[in-house]
Amino acid sequence: MTDSATHAAEGQARIEWADGQMPVLRSIRERFATERPLDGLTVAACLHITAETANLVLALGAGGARVALCAANPLSTQDDVAAALTAADITVRGSRGEDLDAYAADVAELVALRPDITLDDGADLLAVVHAMTPPGKLLGGTEETTTGLLRVRALQDEGRLACPVIAVNEARTERLFNDHYGTGQSALDGILRATNLLLAGKTLVVLGHGVTGKGIAARARGAGAQVIVCEVDPMRALEARMEGFEVMPALDAAARGDLFVTVTGAQRVLTGEHFARMRDGAVLANAGHFDVEIALDDLRALASAPPRDVLPLVQRYEIGSDPPAHLNLLAQGRVVNLAAGRGHPAEVMDMSFANQALAAEHLAGDGGRLPAGVHPVPEAIDREIARLKLASLGVGIDALTPEQSEYLRGWTAH
Ligand code: ADE
Repeated sequence: MTDSATHAAEGQARIEWADGQMPVLRSIRERFATERPLDGLTVAACLHITAETANLVLALGAGGARVALCAANPLSTQDDVAAALTAADITVRGSRGEDLDAYAADVAELVALRPDITLDDGADLLAVVHAMTPPGKLLGGTEETTTGLLRVRALQDEGRLACPVIAVNEARTERLFNDHYGTGQSALDGILRATNLLLAGKTLVVLGHGVTGKGIAARARGAGAQVIVCEVDPMRALEARMEGFEVMPALDAAARGDLFVTVTGAQRVLTGEHFARMRDGAVLANAGHFDVEIALDDLRALASAPPRDVLPLVQRYEIGSDPPAHLNLLAQGRVVNLAAGRGHPAEVMDMSFANQALAAEHLAGDGGRLPAGVHPVPEAIDREIARLKLASLGVGIDALTPEQSEYLRGWTAH
């Protein structure tokens, strides 16, 4: 086999392995192959190019769609998977480590296909569609991530959102699995792959205690780390305290942590003020969608010399002189679970991508007539995915008896 054929074969093997852990998406693919709900439609997907995403692309293709895929982050692309999809005649744009111009050109190329439906992880496709005058004509889009939904809602608030967008990120079957279990495990996995550090006995600071931060904090504690939580929302901070975590302002935590993980969705969460207080050897990782949470400009400005690549995904900055502290930045501050690891496990993406596939089917049917705006994944889809997942796990559950249903419906105050 040539090198490129070997590369594609490796990607294909990993796509098949992921398929083995994605029973819900597989059952949707099988139904799609018979019913062809996406026949004649062009679907453009700007998602992380992983083995799990490949299985979504194949399911949409089985449903009759012409699918084109580009990367949702310049550092998350699994090149062997991209090669396998390309070998299967699917349009794929993006390669690991591409620069921002190439990244933007890939997104623009997909928009130029005039898709009927867009699938986004971070809203880059929708942003480009809406930058066109008039905006591209879409049946609708879907959004996979919290940060992307912030962007879509900002468009909506400005009165500029031109199509329905299904908030896949907020489906119950997506959120708990993706954000809590998925990022909880895969962010730590990315950090450990990059550094091979021992978590037990370390002090790990989680900045942000939303669904994702909660997952990271819980998993880190399970691995023996002392966890400090920094949070701006009083309710979430209180929850962290009640969970038994130390809660404090980030400037105080800066002097305590061995490892810092930002997962807030906000920008400049760790800045020069924090870096100046950090201990020698501290590790900085970001698990938020964009690389804006760790202020890289401050890090560069404080450093006495250009950073040194001490491991493939670890850059060391020397800060101060009395004595100097060495701060280790992982994966250039990009989303660590995908840039340093392989993203969420396939079992997690099974639920997310089942939502994506069924949301696309919804948009191709009645959902395409929804008014412009952000819409929830219909409850029936969420429940169907939970039902399929339980069936794949061989788990049976009870149903309400008619008497119980009547009792719950018919309560009146005496
Ligand atoms: N986002 C997080 N993990 C992912 C994965 N494995 N595939 C695609 N998108 C992801």
